[in-house]
Amino acid sequence: MRYLRLAIVIKVFVAALLLAACGGNQSAVSPAGVQSGHLDHLWWIFFYVTAAVYVIVMAVLAVAFFRRRRASNDTPPDQKQPARDAGPENVVKAGVALTTVIVVALLLVSFRTGKAINQLSDVPPQLVIKVTGHQWWWEIEYQDETYPTLNMMTANEIHVPVGTPVKLQLQSNDVIHSLWMPNMHGKKDLIPIYPTTFYFQADTPGTYWGQCAEFCGYQHAKMRFQVVAESADDFNRWIEGGRKTPPPPTDAETIRGRDIFTTSVCAQCHTIQGTGTGGRVGPNLTHVGSRPFIAGATLENTPENMAKWITDPHQYKPGIRMPMNQYSDEDLAALVKYLQSLK
Ligand code: CUA
Repeated sequence: MRYLRLAIVIKVFVAALLLAACGGNQSAVSPAGVQSGHLDHLWWIFFYVTAAVYVIVMAVLAVAFFRRRRASNDTPPDQKQPARDAGPENVVKAGVALTTVIVVALLLVSFRTGKAINQLSDVPPQLVIKVTGHQWWWEIEYQDETYPTLNMMTANEIHVPVGTPVKLQLQSNDVIHSLWMPNMHGKKDLIPIYPTTFYFQADTPGTYWGQCAEFCGYQHAKMRFQVVAESADDFNRWIEGGRKTPPPPTDAETIRGRDIFTTSVCAQCHTIQGTGTGGRVGPNLTHVGSRPFIAGATLENTPENMAKWITDPHQYKPGIRMPMNQYSDEDLAALVKYLQSLK
């Protein structure tokens, strides 16, 4: 019995250590932004307080469990005996008082953290990004309020300059999704018909994983995205590049690839700026060649993967809306070459 309890204590401790150690590029306790910094602080306060409570409770329980009952067995336990009962009664009273104090203290700390997190909503955001949840990918739109022609669209990647307050306008196209980029902030639900806003600021340059955190159907687990926090210069370069219409293809194979794109089913759902296509069902592919991942950021963007994805996307994400496509080997190669050229 004693060893069993010890084993449980150790397991809990190791699990907590693992949780804390899984830093990497997707972790709520490895903050890279202002909001996640506050949340990380709160998380550790809760961890230490609850760990201390756990250890104390277990210690008291162990003492009560193993202590030999004192000699006075002459009074049955269900009969009052003030001298004997005074000790335990005081322990219970102290426990209740301490619990109340701890719960109220944690409540106040949480409240303070919530306030600190929301402070950004008071300053005018320097960057507004519209994020739309789809089954099962993220549509990202950089809006320019003065010049709508400067709007820029991409998918499954959010680039932000470090040290800049960013406002996300969140909306869902179908069911409830939840945006979660643990290194930056907590979760925020995207509810259909009810657009909402979300503020965050990245501190540390880097690439961080994010994902949908609300079960939204069959491929919920494959609804990921990346947050790229970079210097203002890098960000400006990236967004300027993204606004540009890719130059028209010049060699015969790439031209053939473009023509296949614009005249086949691709164009019904996808848009490539400058080709006259305007599908909004699937991701905007204007600069798809520059994205590190495809398929809701779950498949590395290589020519081989893209060819397999176009031919049979359901082998990777069963249930998605994109159909299977049967092209000849030459046509498929040309199409992939064209798409990869869209940097
Ligand atoms: Cu979208 Cu889960």
